[in-house]
Order: sequence, then structure tokens, then C-alpha cells
Amino acid sequence: MKPFQPKMTTASTFGGVIERIEILRSTLRWASRMERQDIQKMLKQVNELRDTVMILSRAQRFAQSSAQSGQDDDVIEPLEDLKKPATKSNRERRQGLIERNFMFEGVFGDSPKLLEAMEIAERAAPSDLPVLIEGASGTGKELMAKVVHANGRRTDKAFVSVNCGAIPDSLLESELFGHKKGAFTGASSDRKGKFESADGGTIFLDEVGELPLQGQVKLLRVLQSNEIQRVGSDHPVIVDTRIVAATNRNLLEMAREGQFREDLYYRLGVIHVSVPALRERTDEIPLLIDYFTDEAAESLKRKPVRLSPRLRTFLLGYSYPGNIRELRNILFRISCLADDIADTPHLPESIRADAATSSAEGISSTISTSLVDVKKAASDAAEKQYLILGLQEVRGTVSELARRVGMNRSHLQSLLKKHGIRSKDFRANPPSPARRKTRHPQV
Ligand SMILES: Nc1ncnc2c1ncn2[C@@H]1O[C@H](COP(=O)(O)OP(=O)(O)OP(=O)(O)O)[C@@H](O)[C@H]1O
Ligand SMILES: [Mg+2]
Repeated sequence: MKPFQPKMTTASTFGGVIERIEILRSTLRWASRMERQDIQKMLKQVNELRDTVMILSRAQRFAQSSAQSGQDDDVIEPLEDLKKPATKSNRERRQGLIERNFMFEGVFGDSPKLLEAMEIAERAAPSDLPVLIEGASGTGKELMAKVVHANGRRTDKAFVSVNCGAIPDSLLESELFGHKKGAFTGASSDRKGKFESADGGTIFLDEVGELPLQGQVKLLRVLQSNEIQRVGSDHPVIVDTRIVAATNRNLLEMAREGQFREDLYYRLGVIHVSVPALRERTDEIPLLIDYFTDEAAESLKRKPVRLSPRLRTFLLGYSYPGNIRELRNILFRISCLADDIADTPHLPESIRADAATSSAEGISSTISTSLVDVKKAASDAAEKQYLILGLQEVRGTVSELARRVGMNRSHLQSLLKKHGIRSKDFRANPPSPARRKTRHPQV
């Protein structure tokens, strides 16, 4: 693979890629017939180009988010064994990952804890050591498992994901290790299990804490001997499958309570990667909001939705028990439901009540100052909301809104100005902010 050269400008690096594509194109254009060997050679070149473009695209996303985040220089102490000559800033650590051609697999963010997780994953990836990924629900454990796979030597081989909590106990052994024809009722033919499907690649055992004790014993055997046995077969099969497991439970505590085998815990967790909860990286929420808004816009083929101030305030202060997945889902939902501007009514019903309470809390803290101020704040908020909804309805045409609500146009303009509302933001096709276009280049 042609290495990514961080010192070159993005344009010149992309320029090099385009030049190589042009050479390939002209070779193809003038070839009257091609031998199998030449086809193979060209396929190899195309694959190399694809890899280079992937690396460039990911590197560019990070470089651009770094330039915009303005929060790069919190100096932190990285892990002792990962410490380079001196303490590094977040920016330097992330830049280091980019320069080492790290595959981010869509992991976005640069809080110290996330960087630490990525650096450990990077170190662990080329080895075949088992990795245990720990973190609360929705923090990105599966994504981190893909990072381990993508940065190792098995990257071109299968990544097979198994949700240990979703397989009934009676089917577990056959799912993981396969079965022989006739091994049990319904086993009408030989079948490979997930371990064999992932041979040469990585098996991701999600929610490994849900594995019943009997399954744990079998898994331990694979870890000890790299052998599996299909249900109903006497012959062990050697597998070369790298194991990455994830859990949102405290396995050591489960081991103390006799629910998880302690020996399995230590074998699975040769390397631990801990993925931080969103509450441990709240200063990244504004960046993540932009990132997911753009991602949703791309996937829904629409302009990025804009957030009303009260929705933005709510999203910045909400506790996200479902972590980054919840934030992402919220932004996909509102991008799907809202027209140009999303507001708190577009939130899922389960958290709409929280949004209402937090607005009310805003008012109750004002009560302690003066009732007059509270009334004014409430009236201003209602006025602003009225104008926003009105402009949404008339798609930003101020004269039309003035006509509909029976208000003098210049008075309406002055109210919009007072609230900092720009009518052009509500028009059907306002120019989409350039930075959004450039931040997420298509691969
Ligand atoms: N750092 C991140 N940057 C961008 N997207 C992320 C990040 N972390 C997680 N996501 C996104 O959040 C969602 C949840 O991630 P993932 O499925 O990896 O979490 P999980 O920890 O495995 O969740 P669960 O415990 O519920 O299985 C996915 O859509 C993923 O793409
Ligand atoms: Mg998961």
C-alpha cells in the first residue's frame, strides 16, 4: 500500500492519486486484449488506490475536525507505556495516529480517553492477542473492535460479529462451532460455525458476559488450544481466529459472584480497551452534533438540518444514558422529521418531557430574581418561537408572513432582528455551509 504522506498538502496527495488513476485508465483504453496476469496486476493497483483514497479521506476528516475544534491543546498524560518522549497534546496524539496510517473506521473524536483507547487498539492490532473492550451501552465498542481488526494483519479477512446475548443457549454451541449433519433434530447438513467462518480473520464476541457457563468452558478451550469441534463431530479443527470480545458488564464482579469464569476473564482480557461514556467527553458533543448532522444529511440525501437554539441547548445539556448511539439516533431522527429547522418537538417522545422540564427549570431559576423578568423571558421566548414557526411555514418569505399575521412588514423585520433570526435561513434552498461540504469528503 502506498503510504500516506502527511507532510504533503492534501491537494498534491490527491493529485498523485488522480495521476495514478489516469495511468490506469489510459492503459485500459488502449489495451486490445489482456492476459489474466495483466488483469491481476491492474486489480492489485486498483486495490492499492482504493486503500490510499480511504486513508486520505479518513485522515482529512480528522485534520479538518481538528482545525475546527479549537480544543486541541489540553495537555494530558498518555498511558505510561505509550508515552512518547514527552507529554503530548491531543492534537499531536491524533496527528500521530494519522501519520501512522491508523484506520479510524468512523471513530470520531479526540478526547484523551478516546485517544487512549485508540492508541491501545493500535498497539494491540498487529498482535494476535485477545482484546477485551469494555464500556457502557452505545459507547462504540463494536466500532473499536473493527478498529482492532482494520489495523492488524487480518484486515483483508473476515470480521465476524456474534451477539452472545442474542443466541438461545441450546443453539449457542452450533452457532459458534458448527455442527455435523444429523447431530440433532433439524441438522440436515454439515454447517460451519462462526469461528470457522472467521478463520484467518477476527471474531467479535459482543456481550460476552451473557455467555452461559457451558459456552464459557467451550470458549476457554478455543483460547487454550485454537481448536474447535463441530457439534456431533469427534474431530477437532484448528482455527486461526483472533478473538475480540466486548462487554458492558463488570466481568470481574461477575466472576466473584460465580457467573463468569475467572480463567476465561483473564484469557479474554490480555489487553483491555476501555471506551469512555459520552458524559466523560461532553466537550465533544458540539462536534459530534455537527458530525452526525452531516452524516444524516448525506445518508438521507438532504441539506444538513439546522437546530433551533432551544434544541441545541437541550442537546448540549442532556445526559445521554444511551451514549453516542443515542445522540446519533436523535440526530438521524430529527434530520428525517424536520424541514429546515429542527426543534424540541422533533425529539423522541421519551425525552421530550426532559426537554420541557429543562426549559421550565430555566424559568424557575429566573423566578429567584424577579417575576417581571420571568414574564419578560417567557414572553420573549414565545415571541421568538412564534416567529420561527411562522417563517418555517412561509419558507422564509417575510412579506408573506407579515400578510398572514396582519403585521406591518418593517415591524416584523425589527422583531426578527431583535431575536437574531435570519429569514434566509428558512428559505427552500439556502446555500449549505461550505465547511460542511468540505469536512466530510466522499470516499
Ligand atoms: N467515536 C465515535 N464516532 C462516531 N460514531 C460513533 C463513535 N462511537 C460510536 N459511534 C456510533 O454509535 C453507534 C453505536 O456504536 P456501537 O454499536 O459500536 O456501540 P456499542 O458500545 O457496541 O453498543 P452496545 O453496547 O449497545 O452494543 C454506532 O452507530 C456507531 O457508528
Ligand atoms: Mg455492541
